[in-house]
Amino acid sequence: MTDNYAVVGNPIAHSLSPRIHGAFAAQTGQDIHYGRQLVEEGAFAAFARGFFASGGCGLNVTMPFKLDACDFADELTERARAAGAVNTLKKLHDGRVLGDNTDGAGLVSDIRDNLGWVIRDRRVLVLGAGGAARGVLLPLLAETPERIHIANRTVAKAEWLAKEFSADAEITAGGLEEFPCAFDLIINASSAGLSNEMPRLPEKILGENCKAYDMVYGAEPTPFMCWAKARGATVADGLGMLVGQAAESFFLWRGLRPDVAPILQQLRKELQNK
Ligand code: ATR
Repeated sequence: MTDNYAVVGNPIAHSLSPRIHGAFAAQTGQDIHYGRQLVEEGAFAAFARGFFASGGCGLNVTMPFKLDACDFADELTERARAAGAVNTLKKLHDGRVLGDNTDGAGLVSDIRDNLGWVIRDRRVLVLGAGGAARGVLLPLLAETPERIHIANRTVAKAEWLAKEFSADAEITAGGLEEFPCAFDLIINASSAGLSNEMPRLPEKILGENCKAYDMVYGAEPTPFMCWAKARGATVADGLGMLVGQAAESFFLWRGLRPDVAPILQQLRKELQNK
């Protein structure tokens, strides 16, 4: 029998998840159907209840429902609890629903396995202190960087976030003007680039052989990538993170790890031809 999955969001029309999971299923020989579902704000729990009651196996959850999905889940993985948000729901054998967050694992696998960049023992800067930043901190810390510094326009939010995770590692916080050192890896988790903005950052934050990663992606390099590249950094966008988080969800649901390279290559080609 075909197992049913879907991605839920608002908007959802442009989601690449059905493509990605379709490719994973074909590659691994899994009999699944993966749809996309537009849900009105305030209607997430009713939709999810109906979906699982009628035999649905799993959901991916995107904007603006990641907090609703967190509330909806009967049980949370450690990384979902740390993220305070859920992007993957899975129906368990006993009928309860597990909430997970695969965004951070997707980011780490893209950086470490696809790009071949090192996180371990490196000085890592995270720009932004909203949901996107929070979602990736635990998996980043699990890679045992030398330190993580969180820099945010609103300093208090960065400080709060650093405190939340301070038991796990050397993690500091500050604003966008003063930084404690130069960094080996800078991850842009702020949403500034979405409106084509770029906070003014001092050049000295770019360490030697600095790697700069933007969690968003598009046909063109983001303002943050352009800024870092012009100053000698190696840069990457978040398309690999998107495919990586999907692969983690697929693994949670099906117990199989798909090869992300072919679909990532295909999506990259399409994006560049747009
Ligand atoms: P997301 O879920 O994408 O993280 P969010 O929780 O609203 O969205 O967080 C957005 C992040 O981008 C915040 O860190 C925000 O900074 P503030 O906490 O100071 O609001 C950051 N951000 C958004 N626009 C920005 C801009 N123009 N310059 C600098 N930072 C910006």
